[in-house]
Amino acid sequence: MKPIYLLAAALLWATPALADEFDIVLKPGPGGDTTSVTCAACHSIDYIKMNSPFMSPAIWKAEVTKMRTAFGAPIDQTTADEILGYVIAAYGVPAKP
Ligand code: HEC
Repeated sequence: MKPIYLLAAALLWATPALADEFDIVLKPGPGGDTTSVTCAACHSIDYIKMNSPFMSPAIWKAEVTKMRTAFGAPIDQTTADEILGYVIAAYGVPAKP
């Protein structure tokens, strides 16, 4: 029994530090750095991860467009295309048939 208690105590102690460091890192890939920098300007980059289970390519496109038009994100077309390619590849789900 004793080793299990020790392990549990160690995990409890370690968790907050781990959450801090790894929570808000996007998957590596082309355009990933641009996305992290550009999309973190107004809100947590976690928004990308939190929404990823529902995001088909079309929804991602609408989402990036909304950030630019409705919320005024200063992102030019080239950068938007790069970000879109990245989020679809790394955090997109296939379109519904
Ligand atoms: C100019 C500020 C700004 C920038 C830059 C920005 N966003 Fe947003 N984003 C917002 C606002 C405002 C909301 C909605 C309010 C909230 O929930 O905080 C939002 C919400 C979201 C959401 C949650 C779903 C939704 O529509 O509310 C996602 C996903 C998202 N943004 C993705 C992105 C991505 C990807 C980028 C980079 C292309 C980006 N954002 C850049 C302002 C911005």
